Amino acid sequence: MKTTRVVIGIAAAALASSLAWAAPKEIKLPQETAIYKPSTLPGYNLALQNCMTCHSAQYVSTQPSTSPRAYWDATVKKMKKPFGAPLKDEDVEPIVDYLVKTYGAEAKKTAAREASAATPH
Ligand code: HEC
Repeated sequence: MKTTRVVIGIAAAALASSLAWAAPKEIKLPQETAIYKPSTLPGYNLALQNCMTCHSAQYVSTQPSTSPRAYWDATVKKMKKPFGAPLKDEDVEPIVDYLVKTYGAEAKKTAAREASAATPH
């Protein structure tokens, strides 16, 4: 009688712990900041091709939104050398243009321009 109770106890404990294991693990979706913001600028596709091999877009999206063109220019050039991004020279400028207009100091201006272009006058 005593033995049966112990066996049931063990079985219950085993069941409880197996249920805990069966519980779905928390699934973390990538944060939106990990993906480059879509844009019609040619640098968007270049950024997708060249700027995600070593790190996500998170580094870009966490830069101050006041960062001027010169800052992005220096950053992209730094990725090329010394960090070693295999960037073509002619791709640097369009990427910088996309970054400053999407994440940097020229972002608001671009949004305002696109909004006014979309509104019929
Ligand atoms: C060859 C690998 C590599 C590629 C490709 C690359 N990066 Fe980086 N990036 C790095 C490294 C390494 C760091 C520094 C990480 C650290 O400091 O912890 C970095 C950091 C950054 C930062 C943070 C600010 C800073 O100055 O450290 C930004 C912004 C950034 N990268 C943007 C880009 C952009 C835009 C591209 C595409 C043009 C790009 N990266 C492509 C390696 C790369």
